[in-house]
Amino acid sequence: MDKINTRLEKVSEQALTEAGQVLKEGGLVAFPTETVYGLGANALNEDAAVRTYAAKGRPSDNPLIVHIADVKHLADVAKDIPEEAYVLARLFWPGPLTMIFQKTERVPMGTTGGMSTVAVRMPSHPVALSLIRKAGGFVSAPSANTSGRPSPTCASHVMDDLCGKIDMVIDGGEVEIGVESTIVDMTVAPPSILRPGAVTKRMLEEAIGAVDMDPGIVREGVRPKAPGMKYRHYAPKAKLVIVSGTQKEVTEAVNRAAERHKQEGRRTGVIACMQTAAKYRADIVHVIGGQDDEKAIARNLYGLLRKFDEEDVDVIYSEAFCGDGLGAAIMNRLGKAAGHTIVKASEL
Ligand code: TXA
Ligand code: MG
Repeated sequence: MDKINTRLEKVSEQALTEAGQVLKEGGLVAFPTETVYGLGANALNEDAAVRTYAAKGRPSDNPLIVHIADVKHLADVAKDIPEEAYVLARLFWPGPLTMIFQKTERVPMGTTGGMSTVAVRMPSHPVALSLIRKAGGFVSAPSANTSGRPSPTCASHVMDDLCGKIDMVIDGGEVEIGVESTIVDMTVAPPSILRPGAVTKRMLEEAIGAVDMDPGIVREGVRPKAPGMKYRHYAPKAKLVIVSGTQKEVTEAVNRAAERHKQEGRRTGVIACMQTAAKYRADIVHVIGGQDDEKAIARNLYGLLRKFDEEDVDVIYSEAFCGDGLGAAIMNRLGKAAGHTIVKASEL
């Protein structure tokens, strides 16, 4: 692929107008959403989808999410829309919820990775909404990272991965949520969560009744229904191990392991919460947030995984962060980054 000049622009009316024009002409523009930065392209243009896959190095059977700025545009790209979808749209759009439907003719197979269904989301970030409108209403946007790397939560992450491969990056500062949207398959009854996110199972069930969890994201060895969830993802270069147990067990086990690694000439990193960080004796200890502050933990997760890549550690230990709100999304992403290596402190 020829290297292209990537313009990095702060948010301004003019930058957004120009970015909208770039998208209309089939170009690629990365922009902030409330979840993570997205790599925008015209969702109704097959060539733009091809360019998106090439820039990310993403397998072309992994479908893109179509972003809209107005609920009335939903029926342009989706059909057989159940009434529950409108209930969810009223409650959670604009916001971190993606819904899957049968697609209409207007959506090219390139955008949906050859599938007859389409994923649709209305983001809440004002920059995203403005850009979608200026681009004509339909913007496909996967996370703006190189395939396999952690999703970007600020513009510099996007530049690190995609500079020279896309036309423009709109810098809107750090994102608010930090993990990607909840994906719900509305083509099945009951609807099924294909990727956990900030809109939780409980929130969905309070709105529309029973909702399933795709077995592919709960049990190992079952193929996830969202093609993107089957890849090892969000992975730092060092081996990442999640350690479960009581606080005392975890700190002691990690400290013993760090000591062992030191003797072998290997460097150890730790992902800890505010309350426990000082108890670790490792080469690098990063604080992810307060123990019960799921919002901070979600916001800092991908940035920390990227930071470790620059810090030359050989093994990273992370505490487990459970909780039933955002906790499911955090553990899902952390689990994927660790290739599902979760070890009990007593077995470390
Ligand atoms: O928060 C988000 O959703 C971000 C921001 C930029 O909006 N976007 C995002 O897109 O995370 P991406 O492409 O990184 O992840 C989309 C996921 C993939 O796992 C993909 O396989 C799944 O959605 N997906 C898309 N269309 C689908 C479909 N028709 N059926 C099943 N899964 C689908
Ligand atoms: Mg992604």
